[in-house]
Amino acid sequence: MFQILTMLLLEMQLWVVSGLFTVEVPQQLYVAAYGSNVTMECRFPVNGSLNLGLLSVVWEQKRQGQPESRDVYTLHKGQALPPSQHHDYMGRAALLHDELKSGRAILQITRVKVTDAGSYLCLIDYQGADYKYITLEVTASYRIINTQVMRKGNEEKFVFICQSEGFPLAEVFWQNEKNISLTGSANTTYMLTADGLYNVTSILMFKPNTSENYSCIFWNKELNEETSAHFSTLALLSTLYSGQKSLILFIIATCVIVTVLLSALIIFQKRKSFKKCHAKKKTGKLNPSLTDENRDDYSPQTEAAYFSTATFSRDSGNVSL
Ligand SMILES: *[C@@H]1O[C@H](CO)[C@@H](O)[C@H](O)[C@H]1NC(C)=O
Ligand SMILES: *[C@@H]1O[C@H](CO)[C@@H](O)[C@H](O)[C@H]1NC(C)=O
Ligand SMILES: *[C@@H]1O[C@H](CO)[C@@H](O)[C@H](O)[C@H]1NC(C)=O
Ligand SMILES: *[C@@H]1O[C@H](CO)[C@@H](O)[C@H](O)[C@H]1NC(C)=O
Ligand SMILES: *[C@@H]1O[C@H](CO)[C@@H](O)[C@H](O)[C@H]1NC(C)=O
Ligand SMILES: *[C@@H]1O[C@H](CO)[C@@H](O)[C@H](O)[C@H]1NC(C)=O
Ligand SMILES: *[C@@H]1O[C@H](CO)[C@@H](O)[C@H](O)[C@H]1NC(C)=O
Repeated sequence: MFQILTMLLLEMQLWVVSGLFTVEVPQQLYVAAYGSNVTMECRFPVNGSLNLGLLSVVWEQKRQGQPESRDVYTLHKGQALPPSQHHDYMGRAALLHDELKSGRAILQITRVKVTDAGSYLCLIDYQGADYKYITLEVTASYRIINTQVMRKGNEEKFVFICQSEGFPLAEVFWQNEKNISLTGSANTTYMLTADGLYNVTSILMFKPNTSENYSCIFWNKELNEETSAHFSTLALLSTLYSGQKSLILFIIATCVIVTVLLSALIIFQKRKSFKKCHAKKKTGKLNPSLTDENRDDYSPQTEAAYFSTATFSRDSGNVSL
């Protein structure tokens, strides 16, 4: 590889002096979204039909703060040189061969990664040599925000969580619908994922005002892009309330059925014995008070169950964001 480069550079020096062969770039800066495909182009003069056997193209990447440059793609005298390719670009970087005949050395990188960002050298030797640099920037928007709400123990405080991945690092703001900031009480942390993305988690713990909705906002400064997720506290609490309401309805219905059955039983017993009937009436009075006790026992549990339902529906609702 180094031999080829040295050879090309020597040849280039001769030609640059004579100024006969120049490489040009129609676009100096490319910005690609994480996971997308990008094509970067260098142009070189081709007179008539291309003689592929005389053409060498080298694409190299240099990352900021990294001393070593990486081989992205090398075509040597018309032949691809896969062994020199950096493993990170294997199966992802290619030269669009069909475009060479029109003097376009187009590098295509698929499934762009954060580590693909940097400065790209394109060096072309075709009976003369020259090179240019192209800059590639990679961005990833905080498109999907995962949310979660939890009650903090038995306290009135709630824990609101927003989590998302993107690049570069986003700032997270929290606010109510009057745009009053709550960011001060939030704790935002981040980790780097294996793909070089920032995994940002922001946790806000406070006692919400039931008549307000809250949002977390991810601000990607580089993209000047805001994405947000919303928490509707009203919906949360009304679900709780309607949960209790249906529980009460259920208990009333049960009481009615029990009373009807007991009455039927009492009437049936009445026919058998007049004295026994009197004793049964007393048990009939005892039973409804038992169901009253049951109601008190079940309430908190069902409240908890409805609460977790509310949390779940919030999660699934946000997948569509
Ligand atoms: C990227 O390129 C690959 C291979 O050419 C193709 O299969 C894929 O659909 C492209 N993806 C996008 C987002 O264009
Ligand atoms: C292109 O080729 C033709 C003939 O093959 C020649 O006359 C002409 O000078 C060449 N032009 C350049 C720029 O090399
Ligand atoms: C809050 O900010 C948003 C966007 O910045 C704006 O559309 C909205 O009108 C603001 N609301 C209030 C109450 O200021
Ligand atoms: C924020 O959370 C991290 C990790 O959970 C913790 O170590 C840190 O002390 C917290 N900071 C504040 C100000 O609560
Ligand atoms: C991001 O962080 C959260 C918790 O901090 C974790 O549950 C999640 O798996 C992480 N995601 C990735 C892709 O690393
Ligand atoms: C809750 O919000 C309502 C409506 O925005 C407001 O009138 C009330 O003062 C708030 N209560 C508290 C305790 O912040
Ligand atoms: C909170 O959000 C819900 C659902 O998005 C909406 O129906 C409700 O009106 C909002 N509450 C307030 C106080 O704006």
